[in-house]
Amino acid sequence: MELEHEVHLQAHNAFGIVAKAHRLVRLRAASDVQAMMASPAFAATWPNLPTFILGGGANIVLTGDVKPLVLKVEIMSRRLVGETAKHWIVEAGAGENWHSFVGWTLAQGWPGLENLALIPGTVGASPVQNIGAYGVELQDRFESLDAVDLHTGHSFTLNAAQCAFGYRDSVFKHPPSATGSEGSGPGMGLAGRALITHVRFALPKAWKPVLGYADIEKKRLEAASAVLEPLQIYEWVCAIRSAKLPDPKVLGNAGSFFKNPSVNAVQCADIIAREPRLVHYPMLDGSIKLAAGWLIDACGWKGKSIGNAGVYEKQALVLVNRGGNSNPVTGGEVMTLAKAIQTSVYERFGILLEPEPVVV
Ligand code: EPU
Repeated sequence: MELEHEVHLQAHNAFGIVAKAHRLVRLRAASDVQAMMASPAFAATWPNLPTFILGGGANIVLTGDVKPLVLKVEIMSRRLVGETAKHWIVEAGAGENWHSFVGWTLAQGWPGLENLALIPGTVGASPVQNIGAYGVELQDRFESLDAVDLHTGHSFTLNAAQCAFGYRDSVFKHPPSATGSEGSGPGMGLAGRALITHVRFALPKAWKPVLGYADIEKKRLEAASAVLEPLQIYEWVCAIRSAKLPDPKVLGNAGSFFKNPSVNAVQCADIIAREPRLVHYPMLDGSIKLAAGWLIDACGWKGKSIGNAGVYEKQALVLVNRGGNSNPVTGGEVMTLAKAIQTSVYERFGILLEPEPVVV
């Protein structure tokens, strides 16, 4: 464990926002967490010391210097930990880069994560917002995870039900409930309380491609060969994402900035009566998901900017840093633009968009 002071975070957040961590600890193993809690620097104030867990910084907006102690997760490992009749059980350290991990599993002959290729961020962050793309969500391939309780220092394991996965949601996004004291109960909020150290995936031995998404189907129609391999889907997903979404290394961004909102059939019919071109997807539970990108686009935001915060030209759901590294966007500018978008979408459609990234 190493304690560092006044650490620049510009290279550690995908927007490229300038901010500092007053204090930052790099954690390379679960035992580093316990060592940190017992160390003279922290023993007196733990567990009351506010902390902020930083993975790859792919999904955060920094609105100023970070006052809580930053816990930078750099736990690296990848291995096959078991197999069942139907699955390979593969584990990765929370600090591993997600996309590299996906590529590695495919190279080993363990398919199943190919639709989730090129999603920025770390393995440890993937269950937090239950990442998803092209018909696959993390929860579809999840087996279990290990975490450390930042109050007690104890390690614990959670299965999928205990993670309470939802659309871009999990137990890790919700604060602990006022009444609960143990950190591992199902459905209880664990935000700020659980530090994920390892994640295990159940990857299917009998692989079937997940198709059906318009962009993927288009690639399939264009393809010369009828044989579908996991690597083929992986390459299509990489091509689709690269064409549509900006590379954070080139144009700072945090992926989709808003969640796709959910409405009921009556609300949807009401909007369609006024807006016949509304892009909507009926869900299995009877709710209807609306394409937030379309709503924002319809309000004329594509390509617009406020200060150095911009709306990406090719996908209105993505907010970008127009100032690059030399004159970067501020968290305040990003949030001002986000609020202006929320207001205009609300005024036109009566829908309040919910931001997806964590605002720090
Ligand atoms: N659309 C527009 N204008 C826009 C953007 C989108 O009209 O500016 C329309 C599209 O034409 C399409 C619909 O909106 O009909 C949906 O767009 P798209 O297929 O690009 O998917 P999305 O809903 O915008 C979601 C995820 C992405 C994920 C893709 C593919 C959310 C919030 N976003 O985007 O995830 O890659 O589906 O599955 O659920 C992320 O979370 O960071 C992310 C990129």
